Amino acid sequence: MSDTPRSSLNILVLHGPNLNLLGLREPNIYGAVTLDEINHLLEKEGQELGCALVALQSNHEGVLVDAIHGARGQHQGILINAGAYTHTSIALRDALAAVALPVVEVHLSNIYQREAFRHHSFIAPVAVGQISGFGAESYRLGLQALVYTLRKLASTN
Ligand code: DQA
Repeated sequence: MSDTPRSSLNILVLHGPNLNLLGLREPNIYGAVTLDEINHLLEKEGQELGCALVALQSNHEGVLVDAIHGARGQHQGILINAGAYTHTSIALRDALAAVALPVVEVHLSNIYQREAFRHHSFIAPVAVGQISGFGAESYRLGLQALVYTLRKLASTN
């Protein structure tokens, strides 16, 4: 059984449109936590799990597509909250499929309890799994799930 050194994991964290406004934006749905606080929480969790993180937020689909392409050879997995692009973007889905890295999809809100247009995710079929509805905790749980998946893959290769 080969063992990947704990430090060798580097995860790309992608935040999609409008998530830069967390804390101000519809706090009844998304909570009071800011994006900086979420990134800080992830940084701390990454240290606990022994992995490095690079986080990027963009309101532009093409920037997110480019970041996904750039993950090849740099990152072992992608944690993504694609925001509204979750429900619209075939381009993001295709980019994730193209790079073929393990992906975990997260949402602060429970998208299945909300409007019908949020019930479909273009990301879900190319993700290992999805965590939705736990507020900022969705990100921590998502990172744990991604690292678990990557370590399991490494131990079976
Ligand atoms: C979201 C859910 C999406 O439907 C919405 O467009 C967002 C945030 C969430 O984290 O709950 O921007 O991804």
